[in-house]
Amino acid sequence: MSDDRPEQNIDALLAEDRTFPPSDEFKRDALVTDTDLYDEAARDDEAFWATQAAELVHWDREWDTILDWQLPYAKWFVGGQLNASYNCLDRHVEAGNGDKVALHWEGEPGDTRKITYTELCTEVQRFSNALKALGVAKGDVVNIYLPMIPEAAVAMLACARIGAPHSVVFGGFSSQSLADRIIDAKAKVLITADGGYRRGEVFPLKPAADEAVAASDTIEHVVVVRRSENDVEMVDGRDHWYHELIEAADPECPPEPMDSEDLLFLLYTSGTTGKPKGIMHSTGGYMTQTTFTHKYVFDLHPDTDVYWCTADVGWVTGHSYIVYGPMSNGATQVMYEGVPNHPGNDRFWDIVEKYKVTILYTAPTAIRTFMKWGPEEPAKHDLSSLRLLGTVGEPINPEAWMWYHTHIGGERCPIVDTWWQTETGAIMISPLPGATTTKPGSATFPIPGVSGEIIDDEGRTVDQGGGYLTLTRPWPAMTRGIWGDPERFVETYWARFPDRYFAGDGARVDSDGYFWVMGRIDDVMNVSGHRISTSEVESALVSHPAVAEAAVVGANDPMTGQAIIAYVITRGTAQVEVKVLREHVATQIGSIAKPKTIYFTPDLPKTRSGKIMRRLLRDVAEGRNLGDTTTLADASVVDELAKRASEAPAEE
Ligand code: PRX
Repeated sequence: MSDDRPEQNIDALLAEDRTFPPSDEFKRDALVTDTDLYDEAARDDEAFWATQAAELVHWDREWDTILDWQLPYAKWFVGGQLNASYNCLDRHVEAGNGDKVALHWEGEPGDTRKITYTELCTEVQRFSNALKALGVAKGDVVNIYLPMIPEAAVAMLACARIGAPHSVVFGGFSSQSLADRIIDAKAKVLITADGGYRRGEVFPLKPAADEAVAASDTIEHVVVVRRSENDVEMVDGRDHWYHELIEAADPECPPEPMDSEDLLFLLYTSGTTGKPKGIMHSTGGYMTQTTFTHKYVFDLHPDTDVYWCTADVGWVTGHSYIVYGPMSNGATQVMYEGVPNHPGNDRFWDIVEKYKVTILYTAPTAIRTFMKWGPEEPAKHDLSSLRLLGTVGEPINPEAWMWYHTHIGGERCPIVDTWWQTETGAIMISPLPGATTTKPGSATFPIPGVSGEIIDDEGRTVDQGGGYLTLTRPWPAMTRGIWGDPERFVETYWARFPDRYFAGDGARVDSDGYFWVMGRIDDVMNVSGHRISTSEVESALVSHPAVAEAAVVGANDPMTGQAIIAYVITRGTAQVEVKVLREHVATQIGSIAKPKTIYFTPDLPKTRSGKIMRRLLRDVAEGRNLGDTTTLADASVVDELAKRASEAPAEE
């Protein structure tokens, strides 16, 4: 835990008194326009979730116990059986909706595919059989390292169908990061592609996949999707083309009945230490809450809505709000492979117009980028199909909220600012768009069935003001722990405040009871909505032979939320270029973790006990007054740093 207090950030937020009640027009067709769901959940949250589970999810066997809560371990719908892939596919086909479009996929170069629920269901069954033929059995972990192509969803759902937990690794991560995750999960099969398209070019994935497989010793087979037709080397007996496996496979594969508490997937995320955590999610509770939130937070009308979540399937948002939530609800959605500025800065708006997107879910960092590109980009397109907007991943500043509201939402679309985490599995704090009056920058209130509370250092409830965001009751989609490390699970989330889940975020509650999430207060940075731990980047820097010591902080950045700033002490007389170190971090972790700025320094500010004073480093990075430095072992260090910072402008 760093020495920050959430209150420090809180002053930064201007008092925001604009309010936006849902319009009569939106309310006319909205699924929720009153407080009934909240009231029902407040009376008995377990009964409430059981009602949702029964209404929204298909169970092969009913549960015996709704909740078995042995703090900090929750089991939901114990004894129940279900299959996530059946819920996302077969049940829609059986209900007569097989011809409905599940995915309008668009590749970055402009190629498109339209995939119905029947087609998706058949492809998933074929691939399930192919995985089985490669020796994948219930309980085996399968790694997925793919671009944003429909096969990513197929692969996840095929794993779910046969009970093999998947571990998806974002395609932008380096081979080293992939190898670490394969090794930790002991994955048996890796599913990857020749490459994908990004910024108009092919980025090859297979070489990184090969390096990762070589660095680990559990992968028996590699499945390769042909996407970009770049040359790849195939290892005889180990590597298989996806399309050949699909062609040869039987199109029928009955879904494996899974226990509610069986592991559905692992997803690695950064924590305060350098080692990523394999966050575990089980089946029944996760399916219940993702289906519930996708339906009610996005006010989904599955027959008329065209939903688009711009996240990558490699992150939790892609898991819960591209694959499991929307597909469980039988939604029609858009999936896009590439970047928002190819071929022009209006690509997103072109897609919205083309597919008549009605619900758009994106990240504040993207919205700030669109602001920079100017309102003339969206103005080139007819965005009148949009009726609801969402954001996720980081706090949204009120200016960005207002810009989104005005230039994308045409002042008519409600905005749902959704707070949640990889660990929570599904949305926890958010407006319900037909019922909640929103305020720009506030995620408003915990959703029905979720108990959030802001508390102070001593664990006392804060009725108004700043503190720590905690959750007091178990929720169905909560993580079932950290893969292979139960102690870290307890230490990370349950040790700071007794009997509460502490999310790592600071937050403020205003006089109307609205929650304003201010961001991380631990050593985790939030860069463009992605969590990266300071120590992960420090370890990557120190692994370079020229680096003796490194300290990394996240500094406020107008575009990416936070930017990674590194202070580096070189070894003896060693010299190394900034560019080389940034590339080194990219190969160690991935491009998203490259420091924006690197300062070389002969020393770092430390307390007398040797702890690096990150707050001071952040002050330096953000050009703030340094305040009290008397607790430092050597106060002259920061003066020197501040001088260097003012002399050396940020490196892009
Ligand atoms: O700091 C919070 C921020 O993102 C963190 C979770 O990151 P991750 O597990 O990668 O999941 C991101 C997508 C769910 C949180 O601890 N965060 C997420 N949503 C919001 C947010 N901060 C403020 N407002 C949000 N709506």
